[in-house]
Amino acid sequence: MKERELIRLAHEARQRAYAPYSGFQVGAALLTKGGKTYLGCNIENAAYSPSNCAERTAFFKAISEGETEFEAIAVVGGKAGEKPGQMCTPCGVCRQVMMEFCSPETFQIILEDENRGYQVFTLGDLFPLGFGPGNLRKDG
Ligand code: THU
Repeated sequence: MKERELIRLAHEARQRAYAPYSGFQVGAALLTKGGKTYLGCNIENAAYSPSNCAERTAFFKAISEGETEFEAIAVVGGKAGEKPGQMCTPCGVCRQVMMEFCSPETFQIILEDENRGYQVFTLGDLFPLGFGPGNLRKDG
């Protein structure tokens, strides 16, 4: 099943998280419409602001490899050494990056949920009325 496989891959990516400052380790698995997956983890920095979230790591890897169409992303995260508890919801910056490349109606965000296994949201669910490329086009 697509969702469970993406969550499994997100856990694999989470093992490579570099999060010595927050101690919060996140993994993401991004599925393209062509069926390829790109993994990402959070990568922190001693200067704090250069840190990058797992979701954006996965997106930037994929986009830099020429991918432009995306179907879904799974995200898992939590304190190092602990099993992820509550859902790790993407931050606002990551939602904005998703808005650049994904359809708010169809792009799926799969979040591991301790109680229900996982929950699936569309980008539009998590980022209503988001500003995107369409806002800059004359014809809307
Ligand atoms: N983080 C992510 O990588 N993705 C999320 O969805 C939420 C937060 C990272 C950023 C930072 O390295 C750490 O988790 C704590 O905020």
